[in-house]
Amino acid sequence: MANPYESERLVAEYLCFHYPAAEEFPLPAEALDFPKRLVDELADFSAPVPRALDVGCAVGRSSFELARSVPEVVGIDFSAAFIAAADQLCDAGEKSCEIALEGDQTMEFVARVPADINRGRASFEVGDAMDLRADLGLFDLVLAANLICRLPEPLKFLNRLPGLVASGGQLLIATPFSWLREYTPEHHWLGGRNGGPRGWEALQAVLVPDFELEAQKNLPFLIREHSRKFQYGISLGSRWRRR
Ligand SMILES: C[S@@+](CC[C@H](N)C(=O)[O-])C[C@H]1O[C@@H](n2cnc3c(N)ncnc32)[C@H](O)[C@@H]1O
Repeated sequence: MANPYESERLVAEYLCFHYPAAEEFPLPAEALDFPKRLVDELADFSAPVPRALDVGCAVGRSSFELARSVPEVVGIDFSAAFIAAADQLCDAGEKSCEIALEGDQTMEFVARVPADINRGRASFEVGDAMDLRADLGLFDLVLAANLICRLPEPLKFLNRLPGLVASGGQLLIATPFSWLREYTPEHHWLGGRNGGPRGWEALQAVLVPDFELEAQKNLPFLIREHSRKFQYGISLGSRWRRR
């Protein structure tokens, strides 16, 4: 399957999802700004967090939100098109695209990073969550939002986490456990198989030896497909402390 996250349509959908303009979402606001809310509601900044990693960062909004509190944020995504968009947002503070209206009709949309964020604290690179480069170093905070059920082998990523999160550091994972065979072969699903555990139970079993669960939160999200169609999901967010 061609990677859908490289398509112009999904770059535009994600720009609109990460940097929403209220007029494109004529709906109650609770599900807007997911990439910002998950940082606001899950991260713990009661002590300094010098370095953060956002794996599966897409077009970068959570990385920029982390940069409000973290001096060095690295965003990594497998999609070169998403990283090109994140780089442009980092350099210019905005990026325009064509978003769907209805049928073949589109309109221009300009995604803008909030002006009060120091964009120079964030950097972006293409990389594979299941094979992250060995010299990334340690991070005080690692975020993986809506990522694990898009990986062919989620365990390959989860097993790398103890080596990425510094002792006492935090791991933020949000996932709607949307297992789909086109992304993850069924034998690699963490949950959701008939007769097997639910994803949350399986995730806890993997993380508990190295991390302590600190917080859990339902995080609704809304992705605009066209002017009258939206994808609504509820991600389960959790914060874990590296033992
Ligand atoms: C559902 S999106 C979530 C994006 C973002 N974290 C958010 O919450 O909006 C999944 C993201 O994971 C990325 N991704 C998929 N496979 C990946 C991999 N092997 N390594 C890194 N990123 C990957 C996709 O390109 C996409 O940006």
